[in-house]
Amino acid sequence: VSEFDRQKWNAKYGSDFKVPREPSVVLTSLERFLPSKGRGLDVAAGGGRHGIWLANRGLDVTLADVSSAGLAIAEQRAAEQGVAVKTVVVDMLDDPTGRDALGQWDVILSVCFLPRGLFPWFVEHLTPGGTLVVIQPTITNLERHDRPPRDFLLESGELRGLAGPLDVLHYEEGWLADDRHDAVLVARKV
Ligand SMILES: C[S@@+](CC[C@H](N)C(=O)[O-])C[C@H]1O[C@@H](n2cnc3c(N)ncnc32)[C@H](O)[C@@H]1O
Repeated sequence: VSEFDRQKWNAKYGSDFKVPREPSVVLTSLERFLPSKGRGLDVAAGGGRHGIWLANRGLDVTLADVSSAGLAIAEQRAAEQGVAVKTVVVDMLDDPTGRDALGQWDVILSVCFLPRGLFPWFVEHLTPGGTLVVIQPTITNLERHDRPPRDFLLESGELRGLAGPLDVLHYEEGWLADDRHDAVLVARKV
C-alpha cells in the first residue's frame, strides 16, 4: 500500500497540483499549546507548510514524508524563508526501523494524514511533557466534500479515543477553517 502511496504522492507533487503554502489556521490557532523551542516532527509533512511554521516559531524541526518530491518542495520553501529544517524520506506506516531512527520529540504534528496505527509510536516517541497535535477530517466532511475519500477520514469521536494514555489538553470536532469538518487533538505525555 505504501509503495503505491509513495508513487501516487510523488506524481502529485510533480504535477501542477497547487501545494498549499500557508499553514492551516486550525493549527495556528493552537499556538498557545506549543513550546517555542525543542525538537519538532512534522509527520507526513508534504510541502512542509506546518513544519516550516513550527520552525519559524523557534523549534528544531524535521519533516518526515514518504514522498521525496513533497520534501523537495518543502526544502525549497524553507530556504526561501531562510529557515532551517531537516527532511527525512520515510514510510511512517510501514517502516518501523526508519521511523524509530527518528528519535524522540518535544512536539509531534500530524495534519491531513490518518495515523491510526501510529498512536503507540507517538506515545513512545514523545519526550516527557511532549505535545502531540493531530488534525484530520472526519466522515462528516463527506456531507460537503467528495474528498478526501472515506478511507482517509476519521469516525466521529474516534480521534479522542486514539489518544490512549496521553493527557488531552484540547479536543474538538466541527466545521473549522477551510470549510472542512476536522477533528483536532492536542495531547501531552505526562
Ligand atoms: C494530504 S498531504 C498532507 C501534507 C501536509 N501534512 C499538509 O497538511 O500540508 C498527505 C501527505 O502524506 C504523505 N504520506 C502518505 N503516506 C505516507 C506514509 N506511509 N508515510 C509518510 N508519509 C506519507 C504524502 O506523501 C503526503 O505528503
